[in-house]
Amino acid sequence: MAKTVGIGITGGIAAYKIADLVSKLKKEDYEVIVMMTEGATKFITPLTFKTLSGREVITDVWQESYERKVPHISVAEELDMLVIAPATANFIAKMAHGIADDFLSTVFVANTSPVQIVPSMNTKMYENRIVQDNLVKLENYGYKVMTPATGKLACDAVGKGRLPEVDEIIEEIKKILHPKQDLKGKKIMVNAGTTCEDIDPVRFICNRGTGKMGYCIAQEALDRGAEVILVSGRTHLVPPKGAKFIPVWSADEMCEVMLSHQPECDVIIGAAAVGDFKVSNIAGQKLKKTEQESDKLILELVGT
Ligand SMILES: Cc1cc2nc3c(=O)[nH]c(=O)nc-3n(C[C@H](O)[C@H](O)[C@H](O)COP(=O)(O)O)c2cc1C
Repeated sequence: MAKTVGIGITGGIAAYKIADLVSKLKKEDYEVIVMMTEGATKFITPLTFKTLSGREVITDVWQESYERKVPHISVAEELDMLVIAPATANFIAKMAHGIADDFLSTVFVANTSPVQIVPSMNTKMYENRIVQDNLVKLENYGYKVMTPATGKLACDAVGKGRLPEVDEIIEEIKKILHPKQDLKGKKIMVNAGTTCEDIDPVRFICNRGTGKMGYCIAQEALDRGAEVILVSGRTHLVPPKGAKFIPVWSADEMCEVMLSHQPECDVIIGAAAVGDFKVSNIAGQKLKKTEQESDKLILELVGT
C-alpha cells in the first residue's frame, strides 16, 4: 500500500524547491499531503501543490475541509511520516517549544509518525545559538534533522544554510519509510500473473491467478533496496515503479525470459500461476464456430 508523506512547507526562500520534491514523490507512488504556513504561501501558491499532489492543501487551522471533520487530527493520523521542508528558524523554534498556533504546527504536535526536519536559512541565522539549541532539542526528542548544504545563498552570501538537494531529501524519506535495506545490492527476479496458452489467434486458455502476490513481493523487494526484474503474465495490476518490467504471454515465453535473466540474479521467486497445459497444435486461423450443440471441438493438451 502507498505510504502517506506529509510535507510541511514553511516560509523560507527554498519553498519553491518543494514543488520538485512533491512531484518526485508522487511519481514514485507516494501519497502526499501538503501543508503550508502562511509565510510559505508568500513564496509559492497552494494551487501549485494542490495540482502536484492531487489533494487539498491546508494552510489554516480554521480552514473548513471537505475531506475531514477535525483536519489537524485526521491529517496527523493519516501520516506515515512528516517532513518539514524548508524549516525556517521561526518554525524550528515553534516545534522545539510545542507551539501550535497554525495548521502545520498543530499537526506537528498531534503527529506520532517519524519526522524529518530540513532546515534552510541564511548561515548567520543557522549558526545562531538559539537555532542550534532548538535543533539539538528536537533531535533529543527523536526528530531527524538534516544538515543544510553549503553554497551560495539567496541573500548572495556563501555558507551553510541551503536546502539539501531534493534527491537527498528523498533518500532520507526512504530510509525512514523503508528502514530495512537488507536487500541492497541484490538482484531479484519475480514472476507473477497468469500465463496464457493460445488455442487460435483470438482464443486462449488461462487461469484465475491475479498476480497480487508476485506484485507485492516485487514491491517489498524494491522497498528493501533490491534491484527487481518482474516477469509478468496477464494481470490487471500496475507494475511497481522501479522494477524492470517484462510482460510475457505463455508459459514457454515466461520460461525463456527467466532463463535468459537467471545468470544475473541472486534470487528468483516464482509467484506466477503458470498453466500446466498448452494446446499441442495452435490453429493458425480463428477456428470456426461449431454449428450444432452436438459438434465437438477437441483440443489436445500437453504439459508446459
Ligand atoms: C525574502 C525572504 C526570504 C526568507 N527566507 C527565509 C529562509 O530561507 N529561512 C528562514 O528561516 N526564514 C526566512 N525568511 C523569514 C521567514 O519568512 C519569517 O521568519 C517568517 O516569520 C517565517 O514564518 P513561518 O515559519 O511560519 O513560515 C525569509 C523572509 C523573506 C522576506
